[in-house]
Amino acid sequence: MLIKKESQSLSNYGSLICSDNCYTINSTLSISYSLTIEKEVFKPGNDKLANLCPSKRALIVIDKSVWDIYKDEILQYFASHDILIDFVIMECGEKNKSLDATLDILNRMESFGVLRRSEPVIAIGGGVLLDVVGFASSMYRRGIPYIRVPTTLMAMIDATLGIKTGINYLERRNRLGAYYAPHSAIIDTSFLKTVDKREISNGAGEIFKLAVVKDAELFDLLDKHGKKLLDNKFQKNEEIVSNVINLSIKGMLDELIYNMWELELQRLVDFGHSFSPLIEMKSLPIFLHGEAVALDVVLSCAISNVRGCLSDEDLLRVIKVASDLSLPWTHPLFRDEELIYEALSDTVLHRNGSQNLPLPVTIGNSKFVNNVDKKQIKKATQILEKLSSHHMEIY
Ligand SMILES: NC(=O)c1ccc[n+]([C@@H]2O[C@H](COP(=O)([O-])OP(=O)(O)OC[C@H]3O[C@@H](n4cnc5c(N)ncnc54)[C@H](O)[C@@H]3O)[C@@H](O)[C@H]2O)c1
Repeated sequence: MLIKKESQSLSNYGSLICSDNCYTINSTLSISYSLTIEKEVFKPGNDKLANLCPSKRALIVIDKSVWDIYKDEILQYFASHDILIDFVIMECGEKNKSLDATLDILNRMESFGVLRRSEPVIAIGGGVLLDVVGFASSMYRRGIPYIRVPTTLMAMIDATLGIKTGINYLERRNRLGAYYAPHSAIIDTSFLKTVDKREISNGAGEIFKLAVVKDAELFDLLDKHGKKLLDNKFQKNEEIVSNVINLSIKGMLDELIYNMWELELQRLVDFGHSFSPLIEMKSLPIFLHGEAVALDVVLSCAISNVRGCLSDEDLLRVIKVASDLSLPWTHPLFRDEELIYEALSDTVLHRNGSQNLPLPVTIGNSKFVNNVDKKQIKKATQILEKLSSHHMEIY
């Protein structure tokens, strides 16, 4: 049958236009999920997570380090709520963000017999584990619900917030992945008490980035309290911890919410990710991700200073806060002008042909530029060279 006549069908979920044997389909996917900040999620009296398991069964995927520390507490929690559980205990670290780990989880989803809609898989761990579980959940039966319970600072203020999931493949970070929203997330900062201090500093690298590029209030908090927050692993000064965590989460979500699927390539949250991706990969395993981000932030600030935007005083404040957070602020690789230019060229490809470089004008205020050149990079590296000869480098 040849359909000649133009016709149109509409529903709440989409529309269909038929014309001359051509069908045009339009459909919208709306997503909705909640992020809750909650103290002591596994205290038996806390119903929050248990209420998300209406069938009284749950498959839990948990980071091995977290399992070793919190096993008794977690087992007791689910027993006290009469929830039947099965566990996948996953070794973490970047090398385990793999297809093998994903397949292990998928196999366990199958053997557990996860209900398609009402038995969310519970992911408990750092960013690596959350990304892998999210990816597996996006694939199993073309998508089942999952709950994120982040246990590192990086996961709490970054990996948990958006809808990106993924694994490393062919020696490339996050080469396979999906945009796939969680059912919900519960953020409990008391997990940080057992996280290695360098890993907390790593997460603080993303908070530092956000503060410099868009939030002077957050920057002031880090300036005043950053060192203490780190020394106390975010376990003391509850009000300050709460302010820093909430400003970080809100600041990140304000950027993500209008660009969930990254259709817009001018993104403030890409600050700190302009030069670092290539240098971080080339220098593995020297830097953790948040450390590479911090080095990129300081380099970007030095470039802004060279361009007559960021003042000397602000540049020095940025360096002081990085040091307070035990983040590296300079390193020979981030003073190698050829490498930096190569990294920028690679980023231009990622940003579809434009630099789209967020540069702070003052602390907390930025603009996008597209004309950073080799001369400016060279001058910026000279400034950092000079400053580093006055300070002790961390690495
Ligand atoms: N999807 C996103 O939007 C997004 C955003 C940012 C980062 N990420 C991803 O997150 C990953 C990095 O996450 P990460 O920094 O959390 O690393 P990670 O998941 O490797 O965790 C770091 C280390 O801490 C251990 N650990 C976790 N929780 C612990 C706890 N409470 N106590 C003691 N040890 C604990 C882990 O076993 C691991 O050794 C990267 O793969 C990155 O790509 C994703």
